[in-house]
Order: sequence, then structure tokens, then C-alpha cells
Amino acid sequence: MPDLDLPQRQAPDSLMLTGFWYRALPADRVHRHHLCKATLLEIPLVLGRDRLGQPFALRDACPHRGMPLNCGRFDGENLECSYHGWQFDVHDGQCQLIPSLTSDQNLKVDRIYAGSYRCEEQDSFIWVFIPDPAPPGAGFAPPAEPSDTAPQIEKFSEKYKSAYLQAEMPVSIDHGIIGLMDPAHGPFVHQAWWWRTQHSIHEKKKNFEPIPNGFRMSAHTPSSNSAPYKLLRLYADADSITTTIDFVLPNLRTETIRAGKYWFSSLTTVTPITRNHCRIDVVAAWNLFRWVPFVPDLLKFVFAKFVEQDRRTMELQAGGLQHNPHLMLIDDADRPAKWYFQLKAAHLEAKRTSAEIKHPMPHPVTLKWRS
Ligand code: FES
Ligand SMILES: [Fe+2]
Repeated sequence: MPDLDLPQRQAPDSLMLTGFWYRALPADRVHRHHLCKATLLEIPLVLGRDRLGQPFALRDACPHRGMPLNCGRFDGENLECSYHGWQFDVHDGQCQLIPSLTSDQNLKVDRIYAGSYRCEEQDSFIWVFIPDPAPPGAGFAPPAEPSDTAPQIEKFSEKYKSAYLQAEMPVSIDHGIIGLMDPAHGPFVHQAWWWRTQHSIHEKKKNFEPIPNGFRMSAHTPSSNSAPYKLLRLYADADSITTTIDFVLPNLRTETIRAGKYWFSSLTTVTPITRNHCRIDVVAAWNLFRWVPFVPDLLKFVFAKFVEQDRRTMELQAGGLQHNPHLMLIDDADRPAKWYFQLKAAHLEAKRTSAEIKHPMPHPVTLKWRS
């Protein structure tokens, strides 16, 4: 028998992991006096900013009779539902007023809550904590408190630039993630004269190591078959350029490139919108080329090109996945994908048994492939 593993078929929605922070919207799209809609893990949300600019996120359904709260009126503090005028504090969802109550009716208004979610603004995005288990739409509970803060991009100097990119993909989060960590598609999907050609394909060997809730492609010198890296070596006047790539559950891919005093960091997330739809958000920060005109634009152009190539590929792939075909993952090129599925299963198992997560990767491993 060849060494083939069959991964799960189409991921059921239970595999969208709760109990984590997710990127909801770019921060520059959420303004005061304006309500925006977003969907995370099939939960409809309404986002906005209070008078002081602090972001908030509520479930976009009134706990009374389900009217979307984004249709309501917002005064910078409380949101008033457009159907019967119930008012809610936007940060904890607590009901402030039910206009239909008469003075002798003593319904405890403050025990009623609209579903609300903890929010943080971090590196150009509004992050929302999706608790575990998901709160009911109408209810009597304040928002669940996360145990940690939203993920941040690591920066290595005080001054830096940053930018973000987004792309929607009509596939499940699993296909979005394994597409992102897959090394073998590069020569076929990401060809460009200024990057590489199919003929530059050669054998690669990379070391991986386990890290909490994920794995790391250990610090290495990036492959010499790409022009931008050659340029970078020249510019930074550095003998060594190292790249580290981490993947951490539920959806975080961090890439750090360091060359002498210069650095480039990115945090890419694949966010489940619905079970068949995800969004890739790439946020990058760098101190490279800060003074050279056009280079940031050039970098953004290169990144946008890559993301667009991936998006187009996944759009086509979605057509093939429609009929739920059997899939296969091969060694070594698909091993990171296998670790992803194993990590996810180990995470769910640890939650079920309230035990420590059993890491699927007991020790560092070297993988080989051609790309
Ligand atoms: S549905 Fe919102 S107040 Fe009635
Ligand atoms: Fe790609």
C-alpha cells in the first residue's frame, strides 16, 4: 500500500473552532456613528465604535424578536432596536430601556442582554473573541471573557510601516489553511517572471519543530531561487537572511524575515465566515525600504498578486469540491496539512476530556519536497 492518508471529507461546521480571537473587519472600515455588519463562524455581527472610538461587537439580532440591530439607531453609547425601541449598552449588551413598560410593571430590564463579544483593535484589524460555547442569540448573559489578548505581529524596531490585504475564498477554513501551508503549489500557481519559473523547481529540505498549539518551520535561509531575496541580501548588506514560519491554531500563520537590522513580519489569518466560505487577511509590518520610494507599493503589489493567484485557484478548486470527492494527502509535501488536521483533532479531544493537548508532533522533523 502506498503511504496515503485520507483526511476528513468536507469539514462539518463543528470544526470551526470556538474559544479564539478572530479578525472581523479592518479597523479603518469601522467608524463612529456608523454600524457595520460582519459574519464570523456563521454568527451575524454588528460592529461599530463608541463615542471614544472604542470598538464593539454585538450579535446582529435583537434578543426581543430578532430584529437585526444594524438597522437600529446608535447614539455613541446605546443602540436602540428599530422595532420596539429596546436599548442596549454596546459593550456588554445589557438592556437599558424597554419603552413599552409602564411604571407599575417591574420586569428586570438589566437582566436582559443582547449577545455581545469582546473586541480588540490590533495591527489594523478589529478582532472579536468567539467564546466557547457560542452564546445564544437572545439571553441573559454578559459577554464571555477571553483568557488572553488578541494576537499581535512581532515588531523588532520602534519605527515601521504596515499594510493589509484581504481575499475571500469560497472554500472551508480547512482548505483555506492547507492551501496556505502547501509548498508544492508554488511552481504551478505562483509563476511570474520576476519571482520564479516552473523550471527553477528543485529539491528542498526544511526542518520543522513543534511549538505550543502549532508547528514551526525552523529559522532558515530562504531559497535562493527567488529574485526578491537576492535583492534583499544586497540591500540589507547582510550575510544572513533568516525566515521563520509558524502555524498556530486556530488559523494563525506568522512569517518573520530578518536581515541584519532589517525585518519584515506578517500575520496571515484564515477566518471562517461560514462553513463553505473563508477570508484570508494578511497584515505585514516592516522597517525595510522605509526610505526608498515605491518599495512598499511594490511589496504590496507582489503580495496582492500572490493572494489573488491563491484566491483564483481556490475558486476553481471549490467547483471540484462541490461533489465531496475523496481527497488524499501525501508525504512529505502535505505533511504540514496532516499536522494541521491532527492538531485540530488533538485540540478538540483535549477540550472534550479537559486534559492537556497531546501534540501530534513529538519531536523536530525534516521534510523534503521539490518546489
Ligand atoms: S425586536 Fe428589538 S425591540 Fe423588539
Ligand atoms: Fe499560495
